[in-house]
Amino acid sequence: MQVKKRLDYQAPTFTIDNVNLAFDLAPDATHVTSQLTVSRIDPNALDELILDGHDLALISILLDGVTLNESQYDLSDNNLIVRRLPACFTLTIVTKIEPQSNTALEGLYFASNTFCTQCEAEGFRRITYYLDRPDVLSVFTVTITADKNAYPFLLSNGNAIDSGELPNDRHFVTWHDPFKKPAYLFALVAGDFDVLEDVYVTRSQREVSLQVFVEKGRLAQANHAMDSLKKSMKWDEQTFNLEYDLDIYMIVAVDFFNMGAMENKGLNVFNSKFVLAQPESATDEDFFNIESIIAHEYFHNWTGNRVSCRDWFQLSLKEGLTVYRDQCFSDDMTSALSNRIKQVNVMRSHQFAEDASAMSHPIRPDEVIEMNNFYTVTVYDKGAEVIRMMHTLLGDKGFKAGITLYFDRHDGQAVTCDDFVAAMQDANNYDLSLFSRWYSQSGTPVVTVEQSYDNEKRLLTLQLVQNTPTTSAQPEKHPLVLPIKYECLDVDGSLILANEDQGNGVVVMSTESASITFSNVDEASIVTLFNGFSAPVKVSQHFTPAQRLQIIKLSQDDFVKWEAMQGLFIQAAQHLTDHHITLSDQSLVNHTLHDFLQLHTLHAWMDENMSKPELLAELLSLPSTESLLQALPQRDILQLHQAKRAITLYLLHEFEILFLDNYLALIDSTPVYAYEQHQVNNRRLTGVLLQLLAHLPQHQHLTQSHFTHSNNMTDTLSSLKSGQLANNDNFNLMMDKFSQDWGHDTVVMDKWFSLHATVERDDILSQLTLLQAHPMFSIENPNKVRALIGSFAFFNVCGFHATDGSGYEYLTNYLMKLDSVNAQVAARIITPLTQWQLHIPERQALMVKQLRRLLDNRGLSKDLFEKVSKSILQFEE
Ligand code: TRP
Ligand code: ZN
Repeated sequence: MQVKKRLDYQAPTFTIDNVNLAFDLAPDATHVTSQLTVSRIDPNALDELILDGHDLALISILLDGVTLNESQYDLSDNNLIVRRLPACFTLTIVTKIEPQSNTALEGLYFASNTFCTQCEAEGFRRITYYLDRPDVLSVFTVTITADKNAYPFLLSNGNAIDSGELPNDRHFVTWHDPFKKPAYLFALVAGDFDVLEDVYVTRSQREVSLQVFVEKGRLAQANHAMDSLKKSMKWDEQTFNLEYDLDIYMIVAVDFFNMGAMENKGLNVFNSKFVLAQPESATDEDFFNIESIIAHEYFHNWTGNRVSCRDWFQLSLKEGLTVYRDQCFSDDMTSALSNRIKQVNVMRSHQFAEDASAMSHPIRPDEVIEMNNFYTVTVYDKGAEVIRMMHTLLGDKGFKAGITLYFDRHDGQAVTCDDFVAAMQDANNYDLSLFSRWYSQSGTPVVTVEQSYDNEKRLLTLQLVQNTPTTSAQPEKHPLVLPIKYECLDVDGSLILANEDQGNGVVVMSTESASITFSNVDEASIVTLFNGFSAPVKVSQHFTPAQRLQIIKLSQDDFVKWEAMQGLFIQAAQHLTDHHITLSDQSLVNHTLHDFLQLHTLHAWMDENMSKPELLAELLSLPSTESLLQALPQRDILQLHQAKRAITLYLLHEFEILFLDNYLALIDSTPVYAYEQHQVNNRRLTGVLLQLLAHLPQHQHLTQSHFTHSNNMTDTLSSLKSGQLANNDNFNLMMDKFSQDWGHDTVVMDKWFSLHATVERDDILSQLTLLQAHPMFSIENPNKVRALIGSFAFFNVCGFHATDGSGYEYLTNYLMKLDSVNAQVAARIITPLTQWQLHIPERQALMVKQLRRLLDNRGLSKDLFEKVSKSILQFEE
């Protein structure tokens, strides 16, 4: 298979100034006429134009109006090549495609009676022959023709400039987008919808028409999306001085979609799960996700569309930056503490695992087989962490000055990550050359911390050493620039400044080893480092449980308290597994952890802090089994999973009455539902307490009454998650009731599929098979596949990691079918199987055995081939 390399980049030799597209839409045969105005950029370059194309039937090709015969061009699987071309010319190409048989959902596809496109990254070549690369920017004019009754709405980018009726019940609309754009930002949607309309007046008093298109009958579920859009528009004006540029902004919700959403210029296409919401059908988390994804796509209008990527290796230029921007937006709209914890959990459970796997890559990758495989937690989330570090180093004013310079320099261009760093550097006169290693080096640095104390000088010294484990692509790793936020707590809880601190609360480490010192302090002072996850590293620093309890009581930073509590849970899991203490003797667990952790000393503190529901909910949430495995590698994941249960029971042993009293108090004062932060925090704590209590048989009845009294989806889902623990008739009755209530709603039913897929039960595999036959399930619908098969692989620890390997085999069998339907989705769901590195050898062998079966499969997609072959190679090294 062909590998593309970042360093092989070559500028295009032709460019396309104007594109005129005409679509004659029909599900089984759509004709696309593309008229390209082309000019040669480099007069010395070869006079041959190589266009990309995939799965296209070429009907005709004309050069300056004259038909070319077959001897005048070359056609291969992926290219159309035309030679002996003048400096400027027009090319008219007619192709035929079949949207209804397109199950990959890339290019133009037809599903749920809607025509829809997805062109990022390289989908446009499945529509017509083109220079399908992000550094070719063109002005698009698009005419769509289709049946008037079936497809009353015909949408594309920019402004509608013409429309009319045609014979045979057909009609047309012509769209013009005045902004030059790469083909991946092109979009077309045709179908029937309900439309929610509104107007936004920009800072410079321009009126922008806002439209949200949803499935008929769902208008009431579009309001939150519209509010989120208006908030995003306002926020970007206020925060970064960025104003919207077209007269119209459209969002379309569709049921068939490979990812979350897509930022096509002026016409965003969304997975309906990230648009539709009302209290009865959407959880607080859904409301949050909708707001942040609407913002993300809107923010792309500047970071992505106005300034785009030169090539796909630069993807983090737009994605890392836009994720960082949507994170800042969410902090202003909701609550910074739980947002940061969520982001850190994603980094620790998923990005660190990716970095330990064969798919480890820098945020700016060097080699790619299938671009779709690089829309990763590394490019997106670690990419955002890198931007966040620049913000920490430059300060808020400096960072914003850098952003302003970036747009001054590059508006209308397709640029590189280096261009971004250069703008940041030049606006601040700050040398970022060493820092920019974060773009080129993969892997998670480990920072080891040793502490020493000089009694005479009363000097506390922390000696830090950083080390990044090597990878096969990068046998030598270099030190990185690490901004370190810290807190030094004296015995009485007062804060001490580090001697190295220049006054901004940050110490910067840029060499392999460094020290941080504190003068005139007590030996018992406690120093925490990398607070707020100020750099994406693993920190190895020893604390006793007593020190961690001290941090929880005294720290002035809630994130630091949460870290301390996570540290206690990890220590507990380590203690139990090291001493082979298992659930089978819970009273031994309780005794042991009581003596070891001494959590009961937190009783008074917890009681006082029950009035801080957000912090309490976070403190009482155990680390995911994946992040436990990250912290305690080479242990049996099932043992860690059992250890979590044992620790939960120990928590109840110490705090049962406190949890129960506070749960009852919280449900006693339930307000009318609103998505509003105070309520969100209370519901979150209520759910956490309910789930803890449901571990005890005497409290399981609470689950049922919580379900019965719920007036919103958040509480309903909390009940069902608690019900999963008991997994008895009661749970099944609740699930049946749920499907009766929501069987008509495909978005809500994804939750039901996902709940079924994550139950711990011996017959889970036959359950999965049964559910695949459910009338609402379809292998062609990515949301369904993710809800059922994806949830099983990612979240059903006991089922997926069953000791006999049956979970791995089940997933593999499914992927063999899915690969030929939708390779992009298959390549996402395979992730847990490629992350065998931290598991015990027996389990690794079972996982790799299945990977080998896949590789033996004839006709494997590029998507799966890239991930599977790399993973096997790493195993054999
Ligand atoms: N650019 C989109 C975003 O992050 C990502 C995306 C949506 C995508 N659909 C896709 C990427 C399909 C690859 C393929 O906002
Ligand atoms: Zn994005």
